[in-house]
Amino acid sequence: MSNNKKSSKVSGFYKIPVKDRIDFVKNFSGLTEEESSLFSSCLEMKTADRMIENVITTFELPLGVAVNFLINGKDYLIPMATEESSVVAAASNAAKIARIKGGFKTEHSKPLMIGQIQLLNVYDAAGAAQSIIKHKKQLLNLANMQDKILVDLGGGAKDLEVRILDSPLGKMIVTHIIVDVRDAMGANAVNTMCEALAPLIEEITGGKVRLKILSNLADKRIVKAKAVFDKTKMGGEKVVDAFIESYTLAAVDPYRAATHNKGIMNGIDSLIIATGNDFRAIESGAHAYAARNGQYTSLTRYYKDKNGDLVGEIEIPMAVGIVGGASNMHPKAKLCKKIIGIKSSQELAEVAASLGLAQNFAAVFALSTVGIQKGHMSLHAKNIAVMAGATGDLIDKIADQIVKEGKVKLDRAKEILAEVK
Ligand code: MEV
Repeated sequence: MSNNKKSSKVSGFYKIPVKDRIDFVKNFSGLTEEESSLFSSCLEMKTADRMIENVITTFELPLGVAVNFLINGKDYLIPMATEESSVVAAASNAAKIARIKGGFKTEHSKPLMIGQIQLLNVYDAAGAAQSIIKHKKQLLNLANMQDKILVDLGGGAKDLEVRILDSPLGKMIVTHIIVDVRDAMGANAVNTMCEALAPLIEEITGGKVRLKILSNLADKRIVKAKAVFDKTKMGGEKVVDAFIESYTLAAVDPYRAATHNKGIMNGIDSLIIATGNDFRAIESGAHAYAARNGQYTSLTRYYKDKNGDLVGEIEIPMAVGIVGGASNMHPKAKLCKKIIGIKSSQELAEVAASLGLAQNFAAVFALSTVGIQKGHMSLHAKNIAVMAGATGDLIDKIADQIVKEGKVKLDRAKEILAEVK
């Protein structure tokens, strides 16, 4: 294993003992003894009991760190909580290739979330919409009175838009308040504002407000990441061409795009979970955004640059927070934020987008060349060996043998174990 000071570039990280991996993370991220002792602890029952209802236990997932990430010139270790083998290794490998050409470069919008207020029973929809717009200032003031702290931090309700929708129930008016939520995910702040505005909107229009809730299609809170993947490292220009052929199916076919985007979310969700964020919000926003032009398509885009290297880009909504909610309550989520060293929700969004792009590159690269099963098989074979009853050194021995034979099956693992024993 080699580690330049504060570089996340590491070779053979998976080969070293867990204790040494923890030391590496501790040194890289400047963790205290107390913080690093959390690696060997579980979520306390009293914390769990405060987080949700009817708690009877906690549920553990493996948490690994993706290495090699260079994002906007800064090195990152990225914590990933996932049940799926090969995901952390694949992201780390993609990041290693991206490093050759300077790593990931990102851009982000302001952290703007949308809150929706649905209005029914209006006879003159256009007139009612006009009235709401006329009262924009008063409505925004009322919204901002709900969250003085957010306003003091430079956030708060910034704008208002009105849409008239046709529905089987007649015309509906939907007011969108656009809220800068700063470093929060923003659901609480936005929902409180929506509820506070409802009576005033009814008064202005004479209609009846029904739903008051934020939208998870966070298309004003967008992050973009870009990386160049070196053609030589990929195996030459023919491999780049094969990659683009594979990717193109996701661009034109929703059946493939769903799987392609699932690969992106393999990376993003695992970081979102590790930092105590709401992965369902990110998932629904991502898929709704992928269908924004009427057909569900890929969240990434790939093309060749003039050198013949592969350029990858991702554009995705990213409603993540670093304050509030589980991200502040769960000790390991706090630890994970420190491991990454993030200073703002936007920085977390940039890391998430880069990770999603890396994960997607790794999957499509494997699919365009050796196929996905090869990478999956070695860890899977170890699990099969354990299920067959192997322990200690026999796990690797039996796993290697069943992979070599191309028979990664429980009955074969049991046979070999019986022979060896
Ligand atoms: C598996 O979890 C994810 C992949 O199916 C993604 C893809 O096909 O691009 C490998």
